Amino acid sequence: MGIPNGSEVLRAAYARQPFLLAPMAGVTDAAYRIMCRRRGAQLAYSEMVSVAGLAYASDKTWRLVLPADEEEQICIQLFGSKPEQFAAAVEAVQERVGDKLSLIDINMACPARKVITKGEGSALMEDPVRAERIVAAAVERAHVPVTVKMRTAFREGGTRAPELARRLADAGAAAIAVHGRTARQLYTGRADWSVIDEVARAVEVPVIGSGDVFCAEDAVRMLQDTAASAVFVARGTYGNPWVFDDARALAQEGTAVPQRLWPERLDALREHLILVHRHLPFMARARTFATWYLKGMPHAAAWRGRVVRCTSFEEFMELTDAIEADMRACDEALALDRPLPDIAVGS
Ligand SMILES: Cc1cc2nc3c(=O)[nH]c(=O)nc-3n(C[C@H](O)[C@H](O)[C@H](O)COP(=O)(O)O)c2cc1C
Repeated sequence: MGIPNGSEVLRAAYARQPFLLAPMAGVTDAAYRIMCRRRGAQLAYSEMVSVAGLAYASDKTWRLVLPADEEEQICIQLFGSKPEQFAAAVEAVQERVGDKLSLIDINMACPARKVITKGEGSALMEDPVRAERIVAAAVERAHVPVTVKMRTAFREGGTRAPELARRLADAGAAAIAVHGRTARQLYTGRADWSVIDEVARAVEVPVIGSGDVFCAEDAVRMLQDTAASAVFVARGTYGNPWVFDDARALAQEGTAVPQRLWPERLDALREHLILVHRHLPFMARARTFATWYLKGMPHAAAWRGRVVRCTSFEEFMELTDAIEADMRACDEALALDRPLPDIAVGS
């Protein structure tokens, strides 16, 4: 079936807000997405989900895929290697997610060994015929746009993104996202934005650029320096969910990006902890992002050491109170030009 004007729908959405929360396995759960949505991320992606796994998924697995009540929309990213499994997964996702589903994205970018050894993720860049069949099978069942996320190539000398993007757009992909590294590079070296530009000029459908967007300024620069219609912010959201509103204000009004001082960062951390407590079955996930909010604060390294030992919601919240007391003491010392105090609260 597919939807004939999927590219136009997406192009209009990107024109309203071109800065998108990228899919990140182990990171972009409901709590993370809500933090970013509340600060301007409109289209937000799930963590990648296996099409093979979805067939037997428990309610606990679905909980990682489905949007929370307060989320108005979601983009779901699928990975796998079998066209018929993609077709079945598209139907299952549409049935479960319903009207909140904005699009289904197919992962042809993941470089993880356990994924590529099964011919999934970025390995599909080396098998363009299979990649086309997967897109066609998904599009046939979908009543939302189907998009693809890829790398610049699997390896130097392999099928390049501009060629594959053209073929997949012909097979029905409504947009193409490009991470400006080869799969072999993993996350090393610098992302090559010139390939993103090349893909955007090679296809009629809108292109989303990804790679080394670490702040609002980078996000705006990618839009200016390439022909991409939208930009994925991935690691640049760590401890900085404000990046979406900041990038939009910078792009549209030229507003300088504000500095986020500790009171705002600590409030955001508490808000995020409450969201995890409310929406997720596991609190330990908070250890990772909690440390991101502390970056740049006095005593950050010492507090990080305590964060990673927290297990319950109550422990995390008590810790934020202790950090706040410490930040106030540090502010006072700085105002009086005295050395920073030792951390006030024992371990
Ligand atoms: C922890 C982590 C998990 C990721 N998981 C996914 C994923 O599930 N699907 C995907 O397409 N990309 C995934 N990515 C790649 C990002 O979406 C993005 O393309 C990449 O990080 C490059 O952007 P950046 O340099 O601005 O971080 C992941 C990246 C990170 C850091």
